[in-house]
Amino acid sequence: MIYLDNAATSHPKPEAVYRRVDDVLRHASANPGRAGHQMAVEADRAIFEARESVARLFNIKHPDRIIFTPNATAALNLAIKGLLKPGEHCVTTAMEHNSVTRPLKFLAQLGAEVDKVQPSPKGVTDPFSIKAAIKTNTTLVAVTHASNVIGTITPIGEIIEAAHARNVPVLLDAAQTAGSVNIDVEGLGLDLLACPGHKCLYGPQGTGFLYIAPSVRLKPILYGGTGSRSDMDTMPDFLPDRYEAGTLNTPGIAGLGAGCEFIVSEGIARIRSHEVALCKRLMEGLAGVPGMKLYGVDDPWARASVVSFNIIGNVEGMDPASVGDRLDSEFGIAVRVGIHCAPDAHKTMGSYPTGAVRMSPGYFNTAEDIDKAVEAVAEIARGAR
Ligand code: ALA
Repeated sequence: MIYLDNAATSHPKPEAVYRRVDDVLRHASANPGRAGHQMAVEADRAIFEARESVARLFNIKHPDRIIFTPNATAALNLAIKGLLKPGEHCVTTAMEHNSVTRPLKFLAQLGAEVDKVQPSPKGVTDPFSIKAAIKTNTTLVAVTHASNVIGTITPIGEIIEAAHARNVPVLLDAAQTAGSVNIDVEGLGLDLLACPGHKCLYGPQGTGFLYIAPSVRLKPILYGGTGSRSDMDTMPDFLPDRYEAGTLNTPGIAGLGAGCEFIVSEGIARIRSHEVALCKRLMEGLAGVPGMKLYGVDDPWARASVVSFNIIGNVEGMDPASVGDRLDSEFGIAVRVGIHCAPDAHKTMGSYPTGAVRMSPGYFNTAEDIDKAVEAVAEIARGAR
């Protein structure tokens, strides 16, 4: 199988990740922070080391401000619901995944205000439009670092500058970039960073995290046991415990830590260069297929490793779902089709409601994989003419 669905979940994982999950599951799968016996201490150590590994990769000064979550969605829900109150205003974009759009919609129904800035059809967000949308009651700017559909990278430095000039914190949804595009939390002065563990960080599914800067105070959205201050009936006021109720996914988090270590040892610049080269090859190859509609910016360095397209043909075009089915069943190529949980992004790029075919190369793909994918699309497109 040629796996080109890394934007949904990366596959395969580095060998070190498989080994670490197996090792922790066998030898350290007691409950972290809940007992003093040796295996519980080992489990605690595994979590501690993973937090340190995440902190190293993202240049985070305070590892205890990294909150492990089951995925990026849970991290985004914690940030958004923990921060935004009725009567307060959030600036976001019409390029977001439903993991940002839906919690914001929920809070809007409770009296929060939400403004979606409109990016260009190629997915480019103008930082000035964010700046212009900030009002006196704005308490949050929530933006994706790169759209999961079109891949365009958001100019986050300029957005943070504009928001901070008005004392507004920024939440970055790094679902499509964390691990493959460098994110320097301290250098950027980032307030909130939400990441999945199972995409470019090479962790297992069921992992993710939210980083919370010292200047940001969130209301917990999950209440329960933490193994600390068990005498109290309220959540501890120290981090990470304040936001980590319930037993953590120790083997998964240890795997996420091993994924971060892999990235540090390979070098994120090397990973990025390889993925950019694959995307460039894919975009150039697809552009040569007659009847092809490619979405997004031309510069592969200006996008995450995501290439979306439709076969328009010269008559009615092909439904992306049937293109995906044929790629899978006839060519053994795994892609994701449809709306990708991001209807606003498809409306912005003009592919709503049909959606598009999305190919997302990862670090373990090769140029040969890309050439085979292009040949397969070309063969399917010939039938559309
Ligand atoms: N958000 C993931 C995707 O884009 C699952 O496919």
